[in-house]
Amino acid sequence: MSDFEGLKALVTGGASGIGRATAELLVARGAQVAVLDLDTSSVEKPLLAYRADVTDDASVREAVAAAVADLGGLDVVVNNAGIGAQGTVADNDDDEWHRVLDVNVVGMVRVARAALPHLRESAHAAIVNTSSIAATAGLPQRALYSATKGAVYSLTLAMAADHVREGIRVNCVNPGTADTPWIGRLLAKAPDPAAERAALEARQPAGRLVSADEVAGAVAYLASPLSGATTGTSLAVDGGMQGLRLRPVGQ
Ligand SMILES: NC(=O)c1ccc[n+]([C@@H]2O[C@H](COP(=O)([O-])OP(=O)(O)OC[C@H]3O[C@@H](n4cnc5c(N)ncnc54)[C@H](O)[C@@H]3O)[C@@H](O)[C@H]2O)c1
Repeated sequence: MSDFEGLKALVTGGASGIGRATAELLVARGAQVAVLDLDTSSVEKPLLAYRADVTDDASVREAVAAAVADLGGLDVVVNNAGIGAQGTVADNDDDEWHRVLDVNVVGMVRVARAALPHLRESAHAAIVNTSSIAATAGLPQRALYSATKGAVYSLTLAMAADHVREGIRVNCVNPGTADTPWIGRLLAKAPDPAAERAALEARQPAGRLVSADEVAGAVAYLASPLSGATTGTSLAVDGGMQGLRLRPVGQ
């Protein structure tokens, strides 16, 4: 499939996990792709790499400008950089709330703000934000993280409304628990990593974790010119976790 032939894309958090799988899939489908990440040491050609922190407006503006100059334009932004947080509403102090909101929500705003003038010049402009199942289902011990991903979902709808008449589509993906380095770090911290992994797998009706490639496929679907009539939607990639209510096995 070469639906991205001639298109130029920027993927934040593109050095690892879902972002990396997305960047590689877009290249395979014909795009030229720039990765914006805190650490780009693992990023190899044909991906272009730009080191930036999405909490730092100046570094975002510089990286977006450099990527647009090198790519020769910009058609697709995948706003994917994000960090986790654990605990109930009582467990994180104000600084932690501001830090995680700054990366997960305001980070996407900064990247979109810097990219918009360039997207307006594109005939196939699309933004895809990475939200989460945590935006639409109540998960225990994820108060702060869920608040950020709920904000990303609402931001996606508002941005879709603001920019539809400029020809810029805005959608989001809502992954379930996905098998990325992020989850590897989470499991490594658990008292019994194997039991924790089994619990996460069992929580998804498909009985397994989602792969980064499966999320990348959904991002590419939403970013593709083939989805030119799709805007203001969220696409669950969660093994059925949001939509299905199964009976226990054998009942
Ligand atoms: N893994 C999951 O189960 C899961 C589920 C739902 C949603 N998500 C979301 O998917 C996205 C990607 O997660 P992942 O699992 O691939 O994680 P990951 O940790 O493998 O990758 C995240 C990338 O974002 C980069 N990043 C973090 N903070 C940054 C900053 N301030 N500036 C620039 N780059 C920064 C990291 O360096 C890293 O390369 C996140 O937004 C996450 O919330 C993940």
